[in-house]
Amino acid sequence: MLKFPQAFMWGAATAAHQVEGGNISSDFWALENATPSLFKERSGDAVDHYHRFNDDIALLAALGLGAYRFSIEWARIEPEEGLFSQATLDHYQRCIDACLRHDVTPVLTFHHFTLPLWVARRGGLTDPAFANCFARYCDRAAKSLTGFEIACTINELNLPLLVREDVMVRTLNADSVACQNAAEAILGGPLDRTFLFAPPDAIVNQGLDAHRQARDAIRSHHPNVKVGVTLAIQDEQSEPGAEHLRDQRRERYYGACLDAVAGEDFIGVQTYTRVVVRADGRFGPEPGHPLTVMGYEDRPQALAETCHYVWQRTRTPIIVTENGWAGDDDTRRIAFIRSALTKLHRAMAEGVDVRGYFYWSLIDNFEWLAGYAPKFGLMGVDRTTQQRHIKPSAVAFGEIAQAKALSGLPEK
Ligand code: FCB
Repeated sequence: MLKFPQAFMWGAATAAHQVEGGNISSDFWALENATPSLFKERSGDAVDHYHRFNDDIALLAALGLGAYRFSIEWARIEPEEGLFSQATLDHYQRCIDACLRHDVTPVLTFHHFTLPLWVARRGGLTDPAFANCFARYCDRAAKSLTGFEIACTINELNLPLLVREDVMVRTLNADSVACQNAAEAILGGPLDRTFLFAPPDAIVNQGLDAHRQARDAIRSHHPNVKVGVTLAIQDEQSEPGAEHLRDQRRERYYGACLDAVAGEDFIGVQTYTRVVVRADGRFGPEPGHPLTVMGYEDRPQALAETCHYVWQRTRTPIIVTENGWAGDDDTRRIAFIRSALTKLHRAMAEGVDVRGYFYWSLIDNFEWLAGYAPKFGLMGVDRTTQQRHIKPSAVAFGEIAQAKALSGLPEK
């Protein structure tokens, strides 16, 4: 039996655009509806979480989970510049209240990939006014909302650093020039205007500045709320002889952000896989190893490795704000969670300060450019009736959360 600390948080995560539906004032909505589109399909009604949040939170609580990480949507709260929707803020207050009624700790994310279309059209993170603009929205939202204990300013602030190199090159090939052109027509400028494709200097300057200003704005209204940023961190490994390349990748993708936020209340670690760099500079999953439907190497132990790395570099408390497995084989999902937690437990015993674990995701949802096909959820959903179904992994994870321990044989 592997026991976790009493105060350890056990939760699941979602993001507004991926679950709510009808996020019509956002840049992604516009881009999904471009012809042709970079997106496999449209988000549409998503899983109608905007209206079903109460039942979804009740299910999360019934499973035995004690925390829910969700995002509030800037594009709904400020659909036009300076026009703040109190009705939307009231909606998010009801989400927080639903958590509190069920004894679930609400963890709020203020930005999770999507921007209001007007922000993107003004340049997104490449606009010199971005940080002020984001902080003004955070200030307004934080002033209105109460009852949350933990806040994430920006989800995976460093992801664009990874995406531009690892994905953009692969996604934006000659065949997709038409998609890119259609997207750029909507944005009134380059794809850099969306968060996912923001250039590196925009991330390390505007992005980090936006995080700091948002953190201060949230703290000014809620001095006791713990505030942090979340980062996408892959377990970076190398073949013998390529250690310097691994170190370069670490510096390029994580170094600046980690150093900038070391010493803050917490760092949100989000790990899905590992990447192995070879001596010739090529990188990717280790050949011959199983992959998930996302094309990631199926490697639950990657999480403990990244937590070690983040802890060694920053000595800052960690919350695992996302970790999960995509695919239809729910038995494998259970094994993945158990294995990730077994290794995480060991890392904690070795001194890594981890305060909680949020599985991605509570429910199958809109996986951005890939559409609805990849299934990460603990719960499934029939999108024609919007009926939820509980997967065995939800029950298994709920049992672990309730026991605050992993029983049975430790997973390999
Ligand atoms: C992360 C995102 C999250 C989800 C998972 C699979 O990068 O933060 O929204 O899409 O990947």
